[in-house]
Amino acid sequence: MTDPNDLLSQLALQHGTDKARDHWYTPHYHRRFDALRDSPVSVLEIGVGGYQDPMTGGESLKMWRDYFPNGTIVGLDIHAKAMNLGERVHIEKGDITDRRVVRHLGETYGPFDIIIDDGSHRCDDVMMAWAYLWEFLKDGGWYVVEDLQTSYWSEYGGSSERTGETTIGWIFGLINHLHYADLNIANYHVTDYDRTLVGIELARNLAFIRKGDNTKPSEMMPEHPHALVGESRPDGVPMEVTVG
Ligand SMILES: C[S@@+](CC[C@H](N)C(=O)[O-])C[C@H]1O[C@@H](n2cnc3c(N)ncnc32)[C@H](O)[C@@H]1O
Repeated sequence: MTDPNDLLSQLALQHGTDKARDHWYTPHYHRRFDALRDSPVSVLEIGVGGYQDPMTGGESLKMWRDYFPNGTIVGLDIHAKAMNLGERVHIEKGDITDRRVVRHLGETYGPFDIIIDDGSHRCDDVMMAWAYLWEFLKDGGWYVVEDLQTSYWSEYGGSSERTGETTIGWIFGLINHLHYADLNIANYHVTDYDRTLVGIELARNLAFIRKGDNTKPSEMMPEHPHALVGESRPDGVPMEVTVG
């Protein structure tokens, strides 16, 4: 039963995206995004849908287009898409794990108020997309990752173990970015992710990651030296920080 006030769920059902029907995501989006509805928001969604078929997909882009009547909606898919969804919707072809593609998106359409990862749902792709796209998310913006359940599935590079290599393991690592001011690790380098990650909210299979100013010092240790060493993988994805 759809809440009559939840316009997003109604639009999802109307346009045929599975974000309401199969995944129960839209009420979580609506609760957070309702206040933004009339703003000229810039939304990027990874994954247009329809896979190899150039004429299918675009259901969620139509939903966002109608939910944000003053918004600009950008969709990226690894496969070419031929549909025209109106002048406020831009569809690009490219692989989100290709940094040149991300730079093109960010420089052409960014910075974004909302970024949604509904692409391959492979753990390595999810982590890389976030690491590349974070700089193109506005202060106060939301980064949303859908289908977290694939983090447990081996065919998506997942595992039920809590490791840094899965999407769930990465989210555990984000908790340490949020609390870096209280980490007590010698020679730690504070990263941009540390300074700008202000919230992680979870619903089933769904993560909302919030950007903002996280430079407030530790309450208990205001003189904390932050002399910590954070390592990055060569692809720029931060490694899980182990609190010693
Ligand atoms: C689940 S569908 C998206 C559904 C759509 N967002 C909706 O809700 O209607 C996933 C899409 O992601 C695309 N995709 C897969 N890997 C990708 C990648 N590395 N970069 C960009 N798009 C990718 C697929 O081609 C597919 O069309």
